Amino acid sequence: DAMVTRVGCIGAGYVGGPTCAVIALKCPDIRVTVCDMNPTRIGQWNSDKLPVFEPGLDEIVQKCRGVNLFFTTDVVATIQESEVLFISVNTPTKTYGHGKGRAANLKYVESVAREIAKVARGNKIVVEKSTVPVKSAQSIADILKANRNSQNKFQVLSNPEFLAEGTAIEDLLNPDRILIGGEDSPDGWKAIETLSSVYKRWIPADRIITMNTWSSELSKLVANAFLAQRISAINAVSAVCEATGADVGQVALAVGKDSRIGPRFLQASVGFGGSCFQKDILNLVYICESLNLPEVAEFWLNVVSINDYQKQRFAKRIVNCLFNTVSGKRIAIMGFAFKKNTGDTRESAAIYVSAHLLEEGARLAVYDPKVEADQVTRDLNNVTGTPDVVRDQVEVCSDPYEAARGAHALVICTEWDVFQTLDYARIFAGMPKPAYVFDGRKILDHEKLTKIGFEVETIGKRVRNVSQSHPAAITNGAGSGDGAAGLNSCE
Ligand code: NAD
Ligand code: UDX
Repeated sequence: DAMVTRVGCIGAGYVGGPTCAVIALKCPDIRVTVCDMNPTRIGQWNSDKLPVFEPGLDEIVQKCRGVNLFFTTDVVATIQESEVLFISVNTPTKTYGHGKGRAANLKYVESVAREIAKVARGNKIVVEKSTVPVKSAQSIADILKANRNSQNKFQVLSNPEFLAEGTAIEDLLNPDRILIGGEDSPDGWKAIETLSSVYKRWIPADRIITMNTWSSELSKLVANAFLAQRISAINAVSAVCEATGADVGQVALAVGKDSRIGPRFLQASVGFGGSCFQKDILNLVYICESLNLPEVAEFWLNVVSINDYQKQRFAKRIVNCLFNTVSGKRIAIMGFAFKKNTGDTRESAAIYVSAHLLEEGARLAVYDPKVEADQVTRDLNNVTGTPDVVRDQVEVCSDPYEAARGAHALVICTEWDVFQTLDYARIFAGMPKPAYVFDGRKILDHEKLTKIGFEVETIGKRVRNVSQSHPAAITNGAGSGDGAAGLNSCE
């Protein structure tokens, strides 16, 4: 029985850090080392303010760090001392050359493989934890083989990660499944068994599924594509709802009650964000194109197109409702993270909505409970390419009431719980009239807000607003959209 005593991980990001913290917690007799080439990040992992905010993470790191969990910049030592080595470096979308804008950039994965081959002593199980294109494990194996010191043997496994940010610890402690792909050979089976033995310490054996490497790699991309596809499907329906008077929440409820469909991931929104969905779908699209399957590529590409459409549609509605001009108007952006309970802003819909409003000349007051001011500035600089505009027109507030004060509109971009319990009467009093709320997450009590006096706009549902509450205006049935002004004056 192969007992693992030392696990290493290269890449101390959103995946590597929390994953290794949970392994250390659940396997006290395994020494877990996480390394990163970025000394700032490692410094943060070794400090009181971790680089990643996840509910429950602080407690685990505090308990295990210095006992059987170590964070270091020493890549060579980490490789040399570990029997099982996770690669969890970033695999962003390529921004140059062939496959630009779609293909995954594997340069970090490749450089890690080269480093492992160069410095490893003895046999290793190399675990591909990063999300990669199908057949990447083959490339890693080829690099290892071509560069190894003669006596070393490597087995490469695919072990994709399914955690979602904001619930990473919960997901790691109690995953739906652990997926391990490996070579169909006695050495491959043995490696799969060794990695399984680590997970079996806290995960029931029937949730650990093993398969061939290529199925495992592809399953990760497909899982994300399916999840994102559900969001784009319900978001496409939300546009139909807004034009007809149907309520997307009610439609999602009715549809989700079908046990074949299920209720989860049917929450219409301003659009999905996060570092994974778009990147992984584009990666899948690129693979399909490379395999000369253009129809399949187009099918998946539409999931991303509908998401872009949804973000744009929402941003345009804000301008329309504010009498077709936001120039010089203060607008409060409530929430900047791509979802609640994370400080991560990668691909956040808030960035695109903000950029659109800035282009229209708005002044933005941004509030997010977990995103730092310089992160907001960096994201907006990157997307707009106009740092001077960002400097002059964006204020980042540390308090939601401060952001709302004097704003013509509140734009809810992230579903933070705190937004549900703000004192909206107080906020209303400090805003020019008509005061608007654009609820891009469908989390607020719209009836209560209209009673206070707000004009409320949301996704996939027409709210009966103050300005339209006289009887003549609400007799309108389904219409062409702009004819349905009785319930929605903006379009
Ligand atoms: P991240 O950018 O937060 O972390 C990656 C880290 O790897 C960085 O700190 C970087 O400095 C380090 N790194 C890169 N090259 C290195 C090298 N040669 N040596 C040492 N360190 C190196 O990325 P992440 O969000 O943790 O994602 C990692 C992988 O996991 C990606 O492939 C991603 O698609 C996948 N994934 C992410 C999530 C998620 O929710 N973020 C979920 C599932 C899978
Ligand atoms: C996702 C996958 O869920 C996870 O399994 C994978 O490992 C990484 O990618 P993550 O991006 O962290 O996780 O968060 P997720 O909860 O999937 O949300 C992604 C985006 O979709 C967020 O912007 C979220 O707000 C949005 N979303 C989610 C919706 O708009 N509606 C929904 O019903 C669900």
